[in-house]
Amino acid sequence: MRPFVLLTAAAALCSSSALAQSTYVSGLTNYLNSLNLTSFTAVIDKVNGTAAGQNVFTRLASGKPYTLLAPFNPAWSGVNPFFGDDITWLGQTLAYHVIPGTLDIPAIRTSPNHTVAYTLLTDPSLVHLLAGQSQYIQFTKIGGATHISNQNYPSVIISTSTYQNLQVVIISTVVDLPPATSDLLTLASYPQSQELTTLVSLLPPSFLSTLSESPSITFFAPINQAFIDARAAGRIDPSTSPSTYLSLFENHIINGTLVYSGSPQKNYTSAGGQEVTVGTGGGKDGGGSVVYYRGEQVANIVYGDITTQNGVVHLIDVVLPNPASNPAAAASAYSVAVATTTPSPLRRRTPSRLFKPPPVKAPPS
Ligand SMILES: *[C@@H]1O[C@H](CO)[C@@H](O)[C@H](O)[C@H]1NC(C)=O
Ligand SMILES: *[C@@H]1O[C@H](CO)[C@@H](O)[C@H](O)[C@H]1NC(C)=O
Ligand SMILES: *[C@@H]1O[C@H](CO)[C@@H](O)[C@H](O)[C@H]1NC(C)=O
Ligand SMILES: *[C@@H]1O[C@H](CO)[C@@H](O)[C@H](O)[C@H]1NC(C)=O
Ligand SMILES: *[C@@H]1O[C@H](CO)[C@@H](O)[C@H](O)[C@H]1NC(C)=O
Repeated sequence: MRPFVLLTAAAALCSSSALAQSTYVSGLTNYLNSLNLTSFTAVIDKVNGTAAGQNVFTRLASGKPYTLLAPFNPAWSGVNPFFGDDITWLGQTLAYHVIPGTLDIPAIRTSPNHTVAYTLLTDPSLVHLLAGQSQYIQFTKIGGATHISNQNYPSVIISTSTYQNLQVVIISTVVDLPPATSDLLTLASYPQSQELTTLVSLLPPSFLSTLSESPSITFFAPINQAFIDARAAGRIDPSTSPSTYLSLFENHIINGTLVYSGSPQKNYTSAGGQEVTVGTGGGKDGGGSVVYYRGEQVANIVYGDITTQNGVVHLIDVVLPNPASNPAAAASAYSVAVATTTPSPLRRRTPSRLFKPPPVKAPPS
């Protein structure tokens, strides 16, 4: 009898929480409708029946603080109708519009610096970060406006309000899901790719997929002018085969660690096992970030902090000078990164509470 009783109690608990959640979601959609966010509520209705949607709503209904980025109606008219009916894409997009905690908007940093927040997007087809981290979104202040960074169209915060535990932030576009690193580098639809055509032409063929598949990379991508300068200085020989550049480009990557611009000066080990130092200095992007080599400031980040599915890309104005390689040092730095990267807080807390291991029994003496 006992298991049956337990089961019924669990089912009752489950359905009452499902009811509470459904009440919460309908209250939320009424609230969003009162703000004229009817296209967004239509999306909420469409994903309500999906696991991805339910995952988001369970969290929102938990009573903990969240920030909901809510695109206003005109934003949705810019969405390709093909995507508008793609439930998977809508669920991923909704998850990318939810930030655990209350985003401190006045504290968002001024361009070229960014403020980084993690979202609820964890779909493994779109997020390749160590420790199962969820995907990041970035904000920056330009003039008087607060922008969501690195969007194909300018995306700004229009207004904010509160619904129960939610900070509702009305924004002017639907936030783009981060591209694969290889797409950012090669597809014309990403404007940065036009600055990176020389880099792509010199990348050894298999390297582009390594760049896209390695979890949690920071990639310093030299722009076309950087290669023109490097050739003029005799540092790059255009007739050499791309494989020659493998170790050079490995020294443009920090493997396993996300480094954002505006962070304090620090030494890292590159994917080529060499020291690379990142910090702030008198960079050309307005006191922004620079890359050092052997204590010398060698490159400026000219366009920083582009989120991709597996990390962050910074455009730099100089080809870093070091072609040396130390695979053992690179492997060791990567294992340290794997061992020390912690999951996003939402992942860290839940499993330890729900799946607490049973106490280990002392062996009989
Ligand atoms: C969402 O789906 C649940 C069932 O899973 C249903 O009870 C609820 O009414 C739906 N809510 C909305 C706002 O469509
Ligand atoms: C919603 O739209 C209506 C009609 O365009 C307008 O009168 C009203 O002020 C809007 N409400 C909000 C909160 O923007
Ligand atoms: C960007 O951040 C760096 C380091 O914190 C700081 O020195 C610089 O002044 C900041 N730039 C702006 C425009 O706020
Ligand atoms: C980086 O390493 C160099 C030695 O290679 C050292 O002089 C410097 O102090 C280090 N910088 C930081 C920020 O730890
Ligand atoms: C990062 O290190 C791992 C383990 O050594 C390796 O498999 C991967 O290819 C490296 N990624 C890059 C971009 O060098």
